[in-house]
Amino acid sequence: MATSLETAKRVLMDAASFDFPNNVSRGSDMSGSTADTRTGHYIYPPLSPEQVERGRWLFLAELGDALSGSGFSAGAAEIDAMVLLRRPVARATCSAVLGSLDADSRNEVADLVLAWIDALAPVIASRRSPGRWSRARRGERRARLALDARLGDVLPALGIEDTPQIVATLLAAGVQVPIAAGAWLLIFLAAHPDSDVDPDHAAWEALRVAPPTWATARITTTAVELAGEQVGAGEVVLVSPLLLGRLASLAPDEPDDLTSFCPDRWARDDVRPGAWLPFGAGAHACPGRTLGLGLMRDLATWAGRHELTLAASVTIDESRGILPAPARIIVSPLDDIDR
Ligand code: HEM
Repeated sequence: MATSLETAKRVLMDAASFDFPNNVSRGSDMSGSTADTRTGHYIYPPLSPEQVERGRWLFLAELGDALSGSGFSAGAAEIDAMVLLRRPVARATCSAVLGSLDADSRNEVADLVLAWIDALAPVIASRRSPGRWSRARRGERRARLALDARLGDVLPALGIEDTPQIVATLLAAGVQVPIAAGAWLLIFLAAHPDSDVDPDHAAWEALRVAPPTWATARITTTAVELAGEQVGAGEVVLVSPLLLGRLASLAPDEPDDLTSFCPDRWARDDVRPGAWLPFGAGAHACPGRTLGLGLMRDLATWAGRHELTLAASVTIDESRGILPAPARIIVSPLDDIDR
């Protein structure tokens, strides 16, 4: 585990020595790993400003629709943030990535992405060897093939030359993680009511306290010395945004206070939010960072116009990243803007 920013950056940025893993399950021999060339990892370009704008616009429209579906138009509603955000995030990310695709086809793709993510969950969370075929893996394969097939139909007409698999991975990463990040944000805001919270600071602080991708892995391609330790070839090295976000050198406060959600810690000029790498770094850093952060800011702005209260105590589901479970919140409007 890389325990300092310097070590973490080296692991993520020195692709020749620290390969992006194909599979880190026990028993896989990674010693033949040779950086990007071994698994032929595609490098995703960052989303363009136009893509980000398109995604953000649709997110807010879809959030309004999702809330109406929860009975919100009649007043206060109890929602599960992980459920509420599914369609708005999925449709927003599909709109960003798939550009001019008509709304019906785009929504269909968004539902197929959600179905794939849902089917992947039991596979990722399984303690059994991934090599053993099981019902969960068959379900995952069916969901993945259905998404690939639909993307295969629509991508050529959109002028997108990437394979369906590459686009499917982009969409799945761009749906699953922002749903969890947004749900954590709403949970923290509900637990710390303060109508004056800065949306930007709230978004960064939620990503510091509960980064959904709490750890990411690389495999050494050769023996290396890392922070004074000898690490052999083919070993797994972890970088944890969760751990880095609790270093007093990267976030302003005493170490004991760094476990709590306090957006105001970013209301000063001498600190840089994001230093704990919530979007990774190097060639495999998050290509959807601007969209993800934009959606979180928009969500925090929306939350600032509502009263949020926790409806149940929250536990951490660690089965695939860190997710709030349950994420039940009572939402009531503070004004008439969204009604
Ligand atoms: C708040 C939201 C988000 C967070 C916190 C987040 C976080 C991350 C992190 C930490 C990584 C690096 C993983 C690693 O190094 O192993 C990553 C990679 C990735 N993210 Fe995001 N992400 C977010 C939103 C998005 C969005 C909106 C998209 C797409 C539209 C996206 C697509 C991807 C993809 C495709 C990768 C893999 C890049 C590669 O393997 O080269 N993410 N993300």
